[in-house]
Amino acid sequence: MNELLKNTLLRAIHAGAEILRHYFEGTFEVHSKDTLNNLVTEVDKKSEDAIIDLIRSEFPEHFILSEEVGEMSTASNYKWIIDPIDGTVNFAHGIPICCISIGLEQDGQMLMGAVFNPFMNELFFAEKGKGAFLNNRKLSVSSNDQLESACLVTGFPYKWAQIEIDPIPVFERFIRKGLPVRRLGSAAIDLCWVAAGRFDGFWEYNLNPWDIAAGYLIIEEAGGRVSNFGGEPYSVYHKETLATNGKIHEQMLEVIRQ
Ligand code: IPD
Ligand code: CA
Ligand code: CA
Repeated sequence: MNELLKNTLLRAIHAGAEILRHYFEGTFEVHSKDTLNNLVTEVDKKSEDAIIDLIRSEFPEHFILSEEVGEMSTASNYKWIIDPIDGTVNFAHGIPICCISIGLEQDGQMLMGAVFNPFMNELFFAEKGKGAFLNNRKLSVSSNDQLESACLVTGFPYKWAQIEIDPIPVFERFIRKGLPVRRLGSAAIDLCWVAAGRFDGFWEYNLNPWDIAAGYLIIEEAGGRVSNFGGEPYSVYHKETLATNGKIHEQMLEVIRQ
């Protein structure tokens, strides 16, 4: 069964990628969602349709949660969690840091996940208990255990008016330590780059399950740690995400909680 699930996951992500490649730097419709710069393009929708059609052709009975269509609910214990483009603002501006992210949950636990950036040809994949891979190369998080020399990444919400906390003070505390803090514009890629050891840690407030479902498992399977800002066990349905190589996790928590 898991082989068929994996095969379907990879075919679905490649179906989405074909659409992203076709439209990248071309012309397509762009609309604002709830705020001016929270964008959705016709490519998000086309990618989403292709992914869902592919999954439904194999598993018509499975539950689907996808960013643009929402929930397609059934009584299945399998749930596909889809972001048809993570990094839509980058995509709309011709910036090749964007991806498709698909996670698969079984009985409420992440079973497998994939994140694909077709413009860098980087496919990240993990299956529970079987490790994380970048284009078939096994991944492991960085070994840095000193926050002072860490390279970090974060993101900021596009909808300031609707969020409860101000993310700037935490950002300020990290940059005042003189740390390099990047903002790539795709939470799924941020997480995968922590898994690949490029970053030592990532934090963001107010993400959605489709941003993190796949990346969460990829980090865990690469030996990293993911929690909320209280250091408590993580759920992709919670709003706070701290994902690190594990070694600087407590040091980052200390700065976040100050
Ligand atoms: C966004 C990206 C971004 C993060 C935003 C997300 P989208 O997803 O992951 O990095 O900071 O909070 O909404 O809208 O491009 O799918
Ligand atoms: Ca997203
Ligand atoms: Ca998206």
